Amino acid sequence: MQLKIYRCRICGEVYLGYEAPGNCPFCGAHVEYLEGPEKYPADINDVQPTETERADLESSIELETSNCRFYLGMAQRKDNDTLRSTYKRLAKVEAEHCEVFCKLAKLDVPDDLMTPGETTGSWATDIEESLRRENRASALYASFSERATSGRLKEVWDAVSAVEQDHITLDELAKTYL
Ligand SMILES: [Fe+2]
Ligand SMILES: [Fe+2]
Repeated sequence: MQLKIYRCRICGEVYLGYEAPGNCPFCGAHVEYLEGPEKYPADINDVQPTETERADLESSIELETSNCRFYLGMAQRKDNDTLRSTYKRLAKVEAEHCEVFCKLAKLDVPDDLMTPGETTGSWATDIEESLRRENRASALYASFSERATSGRLKEVWDAVSAVEQDHITLDELAKTYL
């Protein structure tokens, strides 16, 4: 077994391992986006967004910030360590998405990205709220991709939409740990 370098085309992070994992451990992008580092051009995020694409990137940043903060809020609860650590990880995945969208929009990451936000008050109702958020995110990114003209923006919105779809499955799984 030999250690290899994989680079995620979506978040740009490097994964070091013997073989590619099923998903990027940082942004959750599916295995097809993990490639040799030579497939990651230095100017990959150098896009010139149209007015619509720029507005959609800004909406994406807002959505990821809100979701990241919501999950950090959930992760402050002390009474279920499996769920606490799962939603802490989920917060970091959404933060990674936020950073990608900021790079594409050439904007700074919001100051409050890692500040825990308000939750609905219980694990069960928060998981329901999470389902609502993930469904919305997945559908929204699919529509942003649909109307985008930039190939790179389409690629990122498609990949992240699929990740948010995975998070719907995760919420259903989380219910079994309540
Ligand atoms: Fe990634
Ligand atoms: Fe998500």
